[in-house]
Amino acid sequence: MTSPGWRPGPEPPAFESRQIASYLRRIREPLHVVTNRADGGRGLGIGGESVSAQAGYELTGTLPPMYPEWLGDRGFCEAHGVRFPYVAGEMANGIATARLVTALARAEMLGFFGAAGLGVAAIERAVAELSGALNGRPNWGVNLIHSPNEPELEGKVADLLLNRGVTAISASAYMRLTPAVVRCAAAGLTVDRSGRIVRPVRLFAKVSRPEVASLFMSPAPREMLSVLMARGQLTEDEARLASRVPVAEDVTVEADSGGHTDNRPLGAVFPAILAMRDELTARYGYPRPIRVGAAGGLGCPQGVAGAFALGAAYVLTGSVNQLAVESGVSDDARALLARADLADVTMAPAADMFEQGVKVQVLRRGTMFAVRAARLYETYRGYPSLDKIPADVRARLEADVLHATFDQIWAETESFWAQRDPDEIARADRDPQHRMALVFRWYLGKSSRWAIDGETSRRTDYQLWAGPAVGAFNRWTSGGFLAEPGERTVTQIALNLMEGAAVITRAHQARTYGVPVPAEAFTFTPRRIHG
Ligand SMILES: Cc1cc2nc3c(=O)[nH]c(=O)nc-3n(C[C@H](O)[C@H](O)[C@H](O)COP(=O)(O)O)c2cc1C
Repeated sequence: MTSPGWRPGPEPPAFESRQIASYLRRIREPLHVVTNRADGGRGLGIGGESVSAQAGYELTGTLPPMYPEWLGDRGFCEAHGVRFPYVAGEMANGIATARLVTALARAEMLGFFGAAGLGVAAIERAVAELSGALNGRPNWGVNLIHSPNEPELEGKVADLLLNRGVTAISASAYMRLTPAVVRCAAAGLTVDRSGRIVRPVRLFAKVSRPEVASLFMSPAPREMLSVLMARGQLTEDEARLASRVPVAEDVTVEADSGGHTDNRPLGAVFPAILAMRDELTARYGYPRPIRVGAAGGLGCPQGVAGAFALGAAYVLTGSVNQLAVESGVSDDARALLARADLADVTMAPAADMFEQGVKVQVLRRGTMFAVRAARLYETYRGYPSLDKIPADVRARLEADVLHATFDQIWAETESFWAQRDPDEIARADRDPQHRMALVFRWYLGKSSRWAIDGETSRRTDYQLWAGPAVGAFNRWTSGGFLAEPGERTVTQIALNLMEGAAVITRAHQARTYGVPVPAEAFTFTPRRIHG
């Protein structure tokens, strides 16, 4: 099976482990898999047909050049105007800053601003900044978080994003569809001359369960479209077209991640949702595919390569980007995160869905937040009102956890809600347990703020969302170029993850050709990469 075009090249074929590993790292060159005629041993040749038939080798196959850009779905890159199938951002309270999103967009990746937890005015400022900095680029957007406790806010954020012409919206934390998210999916739908449905707003959905995925992979429910039409929020044409397309054409399957998570392994949940995508695509006869991306636990190149090997159209990272210089957390918080290992994360009560018992994954090492927040939640579950909490329990909570009295906190809380949503105060007046929830949620809200502001006197209260990916990242980068806090830009993190994933993928390819690929070929040391 020698190839007539095989010319001698400058480098001899490699059969020895170390040399095979070094050849495999040259991902942008074609590699020849060669077989030794004498003993059948497989090796690699580089730089053309460096070994010819005369030399006793046979060309068994060729691995073409490999690029990180090609790991995912090309359609994804085209649809979103990116070079890399890589998404990051969407970290609440502006931790995914406008600066972080701008850096990603300029590096030809996709970035989402972390709008969750912010008021409409702050989101508006960020949108203005991003529109100015990234004028005309399609590859940035804003997170729209489901806010079951504040449906009005969710609606207002949707209004803002639509009115300001934000063309990529990432919807997350949804357990059911809401009018706000359906409006984002359907607003402006039209048909072009070739009969193709055009979506001005590209809606991403982040899901961790098949049943939620199916909501976003199906057309919007008719009843909801009718309601939106009746409210004058959708035209008849938009509603009609919305019933022919899925709510979202990009669905991110999120495994064990920082923040809200079901803690499922990617290898279990991703194939289930991929199969559901195929079933729904066939059922509804969509004219174009739904792209399914992967997130959760991606903190090193092997993880990213694994996600693409599962069939991910794109990958999305979260926790690791909090370590980036552009993230909105303080240097002090970043330093805590930089010391975390795989098991240094745990589940803790969530501020936004505290009453429902929802949890988020947070950093454990160096902070007592998870333990203290759990004490507050147990107290909330155990008593009907602040007044019914026994004096000794109350004294301990005030002294050890809150560092303030219930009364002081209520005064602060009341003025906060008076601005943000006065109905909350009215509800607290009617329902003493709700008042307790608001007082305890003060701690959960503040603990994120302290981490962002670097309030070191409250370091042991820092609430930092993080998943096991952060430990994987710290181990991978330990001792090398990316261990330096100042080198950790969001784009160097991304480029290294993607380059590394391509190296790992190539090693895997060679192995499937029968080449004895050494273990070291499945590693990648971070280095400065020019995009
Ligand atoms: C600090 C932090 C804040 C986050 N805030 C949000 C958010 O507001 N909205 C959202 O959709 N996802 C949020 N996430 C989840 C990330 O966008 C991403 O989906 C997730 O972190 C990916 O998993 P990983 O942490 O294992 O990389 C947050 C994650 C972190 C670490």
